[in-house]
Amino acid sequence: MARILLAGGAGYIGSHTAVELLNAGHDVIVVDNYSNSSPESLRRVEQITGKQIKQYEADIRNHEKLTAIFRENKIDAVIHFAGLKAVGESVQKPVSYYRNNIDTTLTLLEVMQECDVKKIIFSSSATVYGEENPVPYVETMKRGVCTNPYGWTKAMIEQILEDAAKANPSLSVILLRYFNPIGAHESGMIGEDPMGIPNNLMPYVTQVAVGKRECLTIFGNDYPTKDGTCLRDYIHVVDLAKGHVKAITYILDHCCNEIINLGTGTPYSVTEIVETFEAVNHIRVNHVYGERRAGDLPACYANADKAHTMLGWKTEKTLADMCRDSWNWQKNNPNGYNSKS
Ligand code: NAD
Ligand code: UD1
Repeated sequence: MARILLAGGAGYIGSHTAVELLNAGHDVIVVDNYSNSSPESLRRVEQITGKQIKQYEADIRNHEKLTAIFRENKIDAVIHFAGLKAVGESVQKPVSYYRNNIDTTLTLLEVMQECDVKKIIFSSSATVYGEENPVPYVETMKRGVCTNPYGWTKAMIEQILEDAAKANPSLSVILLRYFNPIGAHESGMIGEDPMGIPNNLMPYVTQVAVGKRECLTIFGNDYPTKDGTCLRDYIHVVDLAKGHVKAITYILDHCCNEIINLGTGTPYSVTEIVETFEAVNHIRVNHVYGERRAGDLPACYANADKAHTMLGWKTEKTLADMCRDSWNWQKNNPNGYNSKS
């Protein structure tokens, strides 16, 4: 059992990871400024697990507050989820994205050093492979050219963490490169709660299904893929969360500096997502085919071997599970955490 600090742990992936860490017997401490989340998610994590989370409302960039939190709790490892993540918004507000995402990382590293905490896992993204690398993506490939400031923050943070680990061999770092997380906890109590119009596919699909949006536009059907729509490696958020528990077990036992893909290795097209969602949930999703979205790649999927051999982790959930659980969350919480439930 260890004490794990989740920076940005009230968000979509952090809250699901908190459930799995608590179920595995770890203590969880969450620091979040709720800029893109609500403390309600943590209340529900406590309800699901019957265990308590120590929670702090604070900006990770606040050096003084963060130091006090680290001094108050004997932290064994940090998982760094805290960041702004909307690709389109990052193009409009690049400075806020660089400021928030880079500064959270630097402050965490400084405070960790001052408080003698030597293990950090970072939420990176498949986006760092860029356009140059062929699919499936393998961790040994060089980082590519990112298509937006959000992606660049991930690439830069990876570099910062690698340099910090090189300079300080007692610092252990695992960079987890997520592919496309969707789905929700099977209880339907926690899930993805995007603010405003969703940018990502699955929240858009569920909001059309629940009647909040009229119609999904599928961005492009002339890609060189089996049905002309883009291929992605969708991963159930609970599988992803379990990957973090495995990564924690590994980092607690090893002094390491590793990059690990968290994906299924199996790509699905946008049309397959919509059709599976409709079939599993017996509900229509109005959709039309539209123009390509700038910056989208035809295909993005993982070689997931390293996570299997190194962490002993493999995804267990199917695409049908992902579609069912996404819908279960949305229909139980049509307005996200603001719904009465
Ligand atoms: P999320 O927005 O739901 O969670 C991020 C959390 O960080 C939020 O609770 C937010 O309030 C908090 N936060 C942001 N800035 C903060 C700050 N300065 N101080 C304190 N808290 C702060 O996002 P998510 O989907 O759970 O993603 C978690 C991480 O994984 C992010 O870094 C994201 O970039 C990365 N990631 C996500 C995806 C995805 O598709 N969801 C894919 C690849 C990588
Ligand atoms: C995007 C980001 C990635 C980020 C991830 C999670 C890029 C290149 N990638 O991944 O960095 O980590 O979001 O925030 O920006 N689609 C539609 N209609 C919609 C929405 C999406 O057809 O309304 C399609 C897209 O064209 C894409 C697929 O669905 O083919 C998945 O899109 P999305 O959920 O936005 O994820 P990515 O673009 O893969």
